[in-house]
Amino acid sequence: MAPPSQLPSHEEKSADAAVDLGIPVVDLGVLVNGAPEERSRAIRDLGRACEDWGFFMVTNHGVPEALREAFMDACKELFSLPLEEKKEYMRAKPMDPIRVGTGFYSLVDDIPCRRDYLKMFSHPDFHCPPKPTNLREIAMEYSTCTRGLLLELTKAISESLGLAGDRLSEALNLESCFQILVANNYPACERPGEEALGFSAHSDHGLLTLLFQNGVNGLQVKHNGQWLLAEPLPGSFFVIAGDQLEIVTNGKYKGVLHRAVVGGEKSRMSFVSLIGPCMDTVVEPLPEMATEGRGLEFRGIRYRDYMEMQQSNSINEKTALDIVRVQH
Ligand code: OGA
Ligand code: NI
Repeated sequence: MAPPSQLPSHEEKSADAAVDLGIPVVDLGVLVNGAPEERSRAIRDLGRACEDWGFFMVTNHGVPEALREAFMDACKELFSLPLEEKKEYMRAKPMDPIRVGTGFYSLVDDIPCRRDYLKMFSHPDFHCPPKPTNLREIAMEYSTCTRGLLLELTKAISESLGLAGDRLSEALNLESCFQILVANNYPACERPGEEALGFSAHSDHGLLTLLFQNGVNGLQVKHNGQWLLAEPLPGSFFVIAGDQLEIVTNGKYKGVLHRAVVGGEKSRMSFVSLIGPCMDTVVEPLPEMATEGRGLEFRGIRYRDYMEMQQSNSINEKTALDIVRVQH
């Protein structure tokens, strides 16, 4: 059976994988410790990455390889626990702090690819299932370490807008920022070669998302109207700009559309650490980001309400953002 036209074709994926796509690379070491001139250049490049792509890789990020591996192994262990152990979390609703689920994102029923996931809110309050027993300690450390990294990036992003480093952090109350950890598990396809979506096109609801995968590619990013398969530099993380960054910058930086394709013989896993504003913060464009003639592009919305709305099943792609867009 030919794959339905909405699904990515095989040619599209392999052609993209073979070329250097020019995905921006941000060296966190330079942003944090670079000499002033080197640092200014890095901030400018970061600004361009946010404006042109909403997507980049981060290197020299300081998250130990061993911690990443340990987090991956503990999540794997959770997925392999008997259903009985996870039942309580499988009944959870989108805004519950721990949720285990299976999402069928295929557009046609007879493509057997699917996504299993574990979501846990990790800040300001840390939540974690009790099993596997080592998950708690590892996830807590992973959460702290990646939150530090994302907050450093936020500071530099604030500067890239010509603002003080703490401007975004203060506007979004990031000292009590929301953070969620997600592990996505895409089982191998029963009919390899027949590609399908593991996670349909969407932008993330938060400010910034950090993602790494288990060595199997599958994340695609929409850039200049085309889907590109993102292949990471060894050891790097992907950073994905989310809807709150688009709102607060009045659309200068955009929450980027991305999706995950599946279809290989190997199962694929991805691990996400996302930060957003404090849940009770009303997020609105910074007044200094108003554009000439058009003013502010979005009305304010409480982040908790935005998240709730975006998590409802009727929203796809970036339609959640349209709800707060000001009609000119
Ligand atoms: C997500 C996401 C993509 C992937 O969890 O929000 O976009 O590659 N995941 O799993
Ligand atoms: Ni996403």
